[in-house]
Amino acid sequence: MIRLLRFQATRVALLSCLLGFSVTSVHAQSPERLKAVLSDSGTHQAAIAGGKRASSFCANCHGVDGNSKLSEVPNLAGQNPIYLLNQVNKFYTGERKDPWMEPAIRLLNESERLNIVAYFTAMRVVPARSGSYSRAGEQLFHRVCARCHGPQALGGERFPRLAGQQHTYLIQSLTRYRDRTGTRMEPEMLAMTAGLSDSDIRALADYLSGLR
Ligand code: HEC
Ligand code: HEC
Repeated sequence: MIRLLRFQATRVALLSCLLGFSVTSVHAQSPERLKAVLSDSGTHQAAIAGGKRASSFCANCHGVDGNSKLSEVPNLAGQNPIYLLNQVNKFYTGERKDPWMEPAIRLLNESERLNIVAYFTAMRVVPARSGSYSRAGEQLFHRVCARCHGPQALGGERFPRLAGQQHTYLIQSLTRYRDRTGTRMEPEMLAMTAGLSDSDIRALADYLSGLR
């Protein structure tokens, strides 16, 4: 499924290059502009409507309502808008690496990027895997992670929501930080994952993916 979509994405990217829609300027989107949009309910609703229209391609993997159907693809629903916009910017500038997400984000214009963030983050999260509770994961989370990600893993502007996130995505993300693969090199997360074993990571994913 992912392979097929990645292939389609490459074709879209190639086509738009041929048609001359290539990206010329690399402007990271400003969090202040998003905050202004979120603080006015009329503008917010308009952004959500625009984001729904602009996100049909993203929905192939992230789900129409931002709840992914694929365990390796993160939910975007319910995520903190400022966190998500910053990640979009990181893909845009290449600071965060993913062979498909970087070109996909660069095909969007500024308003589309902002609107898509407004749309997905306004959706409700359906916890990825319920009934997967791990007591070891809960204890480890509260000892090490909660001070940044929050006691209920709901996150904030700088720290992503982890509650209800996809199980495989959590495992892959934590493993890549720990192994310093270079896809994401955020220093706090490199430090926080350095001492985790594979079974710690699995326990954390079991606990977090079932949280509401
Ligand atoms: C081919 C499937 C696919 C499509 C289509 C897709 N994504 Fe993604 N997306 C992924 C995967 C896989 C990841 C996880 C990348 C990683 O592991 O770092 C991701 C990650 C993200 C993240 C980071 C989430 C986080 O929690 O940090 C954002 C934001 C995002 N995608 C936005 C988009 C937008 C906007 C679109 C439409 C333009 C889109 N994606 C289309 C597969 C896809
Ligand atoms: C000192 C603050 C801090 C602590 C403690 C911390 N994190 Fe993070 N975490 C962050 C930041 C900042 C990010 C965003 C990093 C980036 O942009 O790559 C993040 C990102 C993540 C992500 C990526 C989520 C996504 O949607 O892509 C996961 C998973 C995660 N943290 C899990 C954990 C777990 C599990 C622990 C405990 C073992 C932990 N974090 C402890 C600050 C922290």
